[in-house]
Amino acid sequence: PFYHVQVVNSVDSTNNELKRNANDLPDGFVLAANEQTAGRGRNGHDFHSPSQNGIYFSMFLKPDLPINQALKVTACSSMAVVDAIEKNYGIKPRVKWVNDVLIGQKKVCGILCEGSVEMNLAKLEYIIVGIGINVHSYSMPEEIRSIAGCIEDFSDRRVDRNLFLRDVLNAFLKYYRTIDKNTFLPRYKEYSCLLGKEINVIEPHCTYAAKAVDINDRANLVIETSDGTRKVLSSGEIHIREK
Ligand code: BTN
Repeated sequence: PFYHVQVVNSVDSTNNELKRNANDLPDGFVLAANEQTAGRGRNGHDFHSPSQNGIYFSMFLKPDLPINQALKVTACSSMAVVDAIEKNYGIKPRVKWVNDVLIGQKKVCGILCEGSVEMNLAKLEYIIVGIGINVHSYSMPEEIRSIAGCIEDFSDRRVDRNLFLRDVLNAFLKYYRTIDKNTFLPRYKEYSCLLGKEINVIEPHCTYAAKAVDINDRANLVIETSDGTRKVLSSGEIHIREK
């Protein structure tokens, strides 16, 4: 089998733990934790990871990909979460490029990818894909309540977290094994909540308006600004502009 899955009760952050052991880990190693005491999100944010409610895990991967295709791994992982939600709950989630999974307006899953690049080769040495999914409903901290939610806020079904994790891993592997053929891409576009939308692109030193027109074969977001110029984004924060 591809995966080696280890489950622990508590850890600071599954991403941190894999990073600390990066030299000794095989491709396909997965660490899942019942809770994280210092879960991390993107841009230095915390990721609230209480025991019993969510699924917190990281995959250690050594993809045979140039760095400029690393984003595809992120896209495959969000597609895997989307597929597992749809299979288990019969709900159609959306992906907000690159890797947020939303139900309605609420983010139910966040993904933090961290990598190390082989010097000189411009090749990925490894990539750690950290996935946090809010599954069972609970009272979220005030500061995230307006943007984040749990899958089961939207469904009467209760799904076992182990079985859900298994479905995410299986779905991911299917996309990951065929990543050179971009098998995730048609679905990724279909489930995108940005395509065709007027957006604001928030960059460190400026914010500008654009339209999200496509996701290319490296999972970059293709945007068009008001003067018709097309731009390809490989990272960035996007807000949908409400009309
Ligand atoms: C985000 O939404 O900004 C990304 C959140 C990523 C959370 C997951 S939970 C498992 C892994 N360990 C971490 O510390 N973070 C990721």
